[in-house]
Amino acid sequence: MTDHILIERRGAVQIIRMVRPDKKNALTHAMYAKMSAALAEGDADPAVRVHVFLGVPGAFSAGNDLADFLVIATGGEGGNEVWDFLMALAKAEKPMVSGVDGIAVGIGTTLNLHCDLTFATPRTLFRTPFVDLGLVPEAGSSLLAPRILGRQGAFALLGLGEGLSAERAKAAGLIYEVVAEDALESAVLAAANEIAAKPPEALKIARDLMRGSRDELVARIKVESEHFRERLKSDEARAALTAFMTRKK
Ligand code: COA
Repeated sequence: MTDHILIERRGAVQIIRMVRPDKKNALTHAMYAKMSAALAEGDADPAVRVHVFLGVPGAFSAGNDLADFLVIATGGEGGNEVWDFLMALAKAEKPMVSGVDGIAVGIGTTLNLHCDLTFATPRTLFRTPFVDLGLVPEAGSSLLAPRILGRQGAFALLGLGEGLSAERAKAAGLIYEVVAEDALESAVLAAANEIAAKPPEALKIARDLMRGSRDELVARIKVESEHFRERLKSDEARAALTAFMTRKK
């Protein structure tokens, strides 16, 4: 299970790679747990200066595993792994860089709102169909997306579930750069190495100043999560999740 997340150190760069290609990198509880642990360990280790998130060719992540959501929607128990990961993202002490290629749905989009630099390929489509699933925005996206995209851009993404191409995401300020598929990893690692070479104390202060209040972000994630947990048990969510899991291809 846990080899769906591969952790690699390259010098001062810690790479967190999602590798579950047969499910388009849909995230299971075990995958969240391993990513949270990696962020905590990297933050605690002075040898690590920057975290990098990568997926597989064509899929950054299809979001939370909908089978896991359906378990909760039909009366089962969910763990704390998602919550722990959202807290790890919000509280990460070191810069985070992501490289996105192809599918970026749900947390596959909202994770990037926490990153300091995101590179994406031309074939990337950012999409958060929370409302269509009977759910609500998560990961602090209801706070962060309006700041980045403006209220109407955020509504189109989070309310309408409209897809955002890499080109539009760049124009809107959601991502830093659009790069070709075969140049993605090298562009991400070059940026990560550049960050790693900066004076870490000054960079930490600068980053903290730019990110603003963590308390506000954590408070918003908490409110979102309360709604989210409730919504998972709603008729709307149960119907949408069942429809996906039983769809004929
Ligand atoms: N949870 C669980 N399984 C998922 C998944 C998810 N979020 N996303 C994809 N998968 C699985 C599919 O069920 C399929 O499994 P199977 O081969 O055993 O049938 C496999 O991954 C490949 O997906 P498929 O739909 O065939 O690929 P695609 O390229 O045609 O479409 C997506 C990719 C991401 C557009 C589509 O799978 C999708 O819409 N997934 C749901 C995304 C979502 O709503 N995420 C939650 C947001 S909160």
